[in-house]
Amino acid sequence: MTDTVLVVDFGAQYARLIARRVREAHVYSEIVSSSITVVEIRARRPKGIIFSGGPKSVYETPAPTIDPAVYDLGIPILGLCYGAQLMALQLGGTVTKTGRGEYGRTELTLTGSSPLCVDWPVTSEVWMSHGDAITEPPPGFTATASSPDAPIAAMHDPDRHLYATQFHPEVVHTERGSEVFERFLLDVCGCLPSWTHMSIIEQQVAAVREQVGDQRVLCALSGGVDSAVAAALVHKAIGDQLVCVFVDTGLMRSGEADQVEDTFRRQFKIDLIHVKAADRYFTALAGVTDPERKRKIIGELFIRIFEEVARDLGAGEGSGDEGPKFLVQGTLYPDVIESGSDTAANIKSHHNVGGLPDDLAFDLIEPLRLLFKDEVRAVGEELGLPHDIVWRQPFPGPGLGVRIIGDVTPERAEILRNADAVLVEEIRRAGLYRELWQSFAVMPAVRTVGVMGDGRTYAYPIVIRAVTSDDAMTADWARLPYDLVERIASRIINEVDGVNRVALDVTSKPPGTIEWE
Ligand code: XMP
Repeated sequence: MTDTVLVVDFGAQYARLIARRVREAHVYSEIVSSSITVVEIRARRPKGIIFSGGPKSVYETPAPTIDPAVYDLGIPILGLCYGAQLMALQLGGTVTKTGRGEYGRTELTLTGSSPLCVDWPVTSEVWMSHGDAITEPPPGFTATASSPDAPIAAMHDPDRHLYATQFHPEVVHTERGSEVFERFLLDVCGCLPSWTHMSIIEQQVAAVREQVGDQRVLCALSGGVDSAVAAALVHKAIGDQLVCVFVDTGLMRSGEADQVEDTFRRQFKIDLIHVKAADRYFTALAGVTDPERKRKIIGELFIRIFEEVARDLGAGEGSGDEGPKFLVQGTLYPDVIESGSDTAANIKSHHNVGGLPDDLAFDLIEPLRLLFKDEVRAVGEELGLPHDIVWRQPFPGPGLGVRIIGDVTPERAEILRNADAVLVEEIRRAGLYRELWQSFAVMPAVRTVGVMGDGRTYAYPIVIRAVTSDDAMTADWARLPYDLVERIASRIINEVDGVNRVALDVTSKPPGTIEWE
């Protein structure tokens, strides 16, 4: 049984980063809402609990809180930032609105010894982000560090296994932040560092075998990393009981269909049904310019095609048939957290295979539902998937359909695909592909005048969109080197018929979105 640590979410994005840091220390972590009861906590048998930071002040009403009985469970707790202040307040310490917050890099001074900061120098750099400060520790606690505007930057009560830091050890700018987690998890909580990529694969392979027995399983491949890793994992578990379906919508990136064929049919020897459906998609999309209608059409057609394939295989024809009973979905942990949390931000209708008719009822297999994206990639590498698939940048379900503004025609899709291929090739050549969250070409619904050779042209512009991001919720436009931008622009104009101008999108998110739609 893997040791589990619960990360209590007090808002914003902090909890996710903490959960990832815990897993990097090879301990399994789960994010839970601060409304969790003590009975629920006990039932999960965590070896430790971490309180996240949050955007509020403990003095705001309402501000998130937690049942104070949590401190009496005897389970070690580490409170971070807001979590530290809440712990201080709930246990009888003082949190003061000093009027002097600290934001960013700050010098931490150790004032006492702490099992979380073993062999640290007296001063080190940490990341702070707080308005209020703990000014008086609760009874039984000792202060172990301070900073210019946080008199108690770390404190603990080792007898009760309670620890707190005002600074954020989960942020990379805290020099020795990862050690804080390691010491807490391994020394204070006594966790075994057994959450490794091999153990993830072993656990999931066993779980899939147990769930599926000798039944057949269907998996829709999109060309993206999640469905690819899910398929490879399920294939490792049940071999040729797995049938994969790849629907070529005509809105894929350059070379994507061939790569899926190469990897899954030829390398993995998976039974792959490749549906060439570009004509059906372009017919259904003819004349449609409204972005949400496009999404709906693309999503519904996908479901219809998938349904046809499933019925051909004998699915949904009553009991005792040979058809697949299970469907693989590449759901990841962030999707699970988002759909399960009170403050879920559902940005867009993603076209997953959610809308299948009732008589095609499948049981879902979700072998990645506990994993973060970086873990999915590591598992993919371990399973022998090619780097190109494992490290592929995210690609929206509706594909180039959301990057062709206005009419989606085969000609415009081809122009965009070719421009995108040039752009991505140059980004890779510059060594930036992995660093960027996404880098792709967009085709607006206008044509502009240009001059090439002796003649006047009237053709499409292509927009270069490149962003950095951690999770796509916010993003910054990437400061690509000018000579790279120039190379991309001149190659696209020279090599892609139908394009006579290239523009660079310098909008961050917010206010923009990453995709243009
Ligand atoms: P936006 O454009 O809202 O996109 O900033 C955020 C991230 O989501 C991706 N995206 C999608 N992914 N199905 C997906 O699986 C979709 O329908 C979809 N639409 C947008 C987008 O590429 C970006 O990474």
